[in-house]
Amino acid sequence: MSTTTVAQNDHKEAQDFMPINGTDYLELYVSNSKQAAHYYKTAFGFKSLAYKGLETGSRDFESYVVEQDKIRLVLTSPLKSGTDVGRHIDKHGDGVKITALWVDDATYAYEEAMKRGAKSYMEPVAEEDEFGKVVRSGIYSYGEVGHIFVERKNYNGTFLPGYQKWESDYQPTSTGLKFVDHMVGNVEEGRMNYWVDFYANVMGFKQIMSFDDKDISTDYTALMSKVMSNGNGRIKFPINEPAPGMKKSQVDEYLEFYEGEGVQHIAVATDDIVKTVSDLKSRGVEFLTIPTTYYDVLTERVGEIDEDIDSLRKLGILVDRDDEGYLLQIFTKTVQARPTMFFEIIQRKGATSFGKGNFKALFEAIEREQELRGTL
Ligand code: FE2
Repeated sequence: MSTTTVAQNDHKEAQDFMPINGTDYLELYVSNSKQAAHYYKTAFGFKSLAYKGLETGSRDFESYVVEQDKIRLVLTSPLKSGTDVGRHIDKHGDGVKITALWVDDATYAYEEAMKRGAKSYMEPVAEEDEFGKVVRSGIYSYGEVGHIFVERKNYNGTFLPGYQKWESDYQPTSTGLKFVDHMVGNVEEGRMNYWVDFYANVMGFKQIMSFDDKDISTDYTALMSKVMSNGNGRIKFPINEPAPGMKKSQVDEYLEFYEGEGVQHIAVATDDIVKTVSDLKSRGVEFLTIPTTYYDVLTERVGEIDEDIDSLRKLGILVDRDDEGYLLQIFTKTVQARPTMFFEIIQRKGATSFGKGNFKALFEAIEREQELRGTL
């Protein structure tokens, strides 16, 4: 049975001066947007939504937008050399560039963040087409990641002005992925508290959990993590840093191969993890595996659960319990050439935590992958 550590610090009672309705979209800079879009459709069950490229008058960049329930991914590649997108891909490989946050007033959000010390990514810009108007603004977060505030209350188009609807005869069935539950960042050693303060002071988030190297350590991995949440809990950003003296941990491997700080994993929620994971596996998504002995003591550790343990064992789904309920989770292998970003599939049955009781089993699974890569 795991417990949840609530940190004792000043950020528990943050003031919610920046209401956020949810995650609007995630934009990934990738080396081949067309093929990446096909991957997310075929493997993860996303559907074609919108497109921007040469046919729409975008001469420098091409973006494919795919959607599944409330999750939208924008996959962007350059159409020529010498662009900032190309430089980003050369340095980091494929990865998350933008976490877009859905707000009622993008100008207000920007001004509030800027007056509290944010670094500007883009000043408020209104874009219009025949479907209405969208206002977007943006600030920088850790590494080169940006948060774009999206105000779309006066818009009823497909995605954003500048995009056309992406009509496709190939629309795979959903795998049951519903929304972004949380998104984790890896930052350099000694920088976690800086970014915790940033989210508290600049964006009004509060710290809801904290883990240190006593909670999270194996022979190779020690990391510290604090979870920041906005006022209504729809946005949750755990921030990891490697613990000192452990130079071969998964966070160190990420920082080395991403060549800097960035998004480590995107956790997406489902209502039926057994069905979702079976479906994803049959479409070729690869998951971390854990020793089946994990399940021998599962009921002892988490008590009675609704799911059939044999199905969980067969799929490698992990379970953890906190004071409010339990959760089921599983992690994909990394999804691009570099061993950097991956996805988590999560089903919450009351639990509001992040699976601390699974950290050891999970990290040992990651280390087995690191060993194969020669980075342990
Ligand atoms: Fe997670």
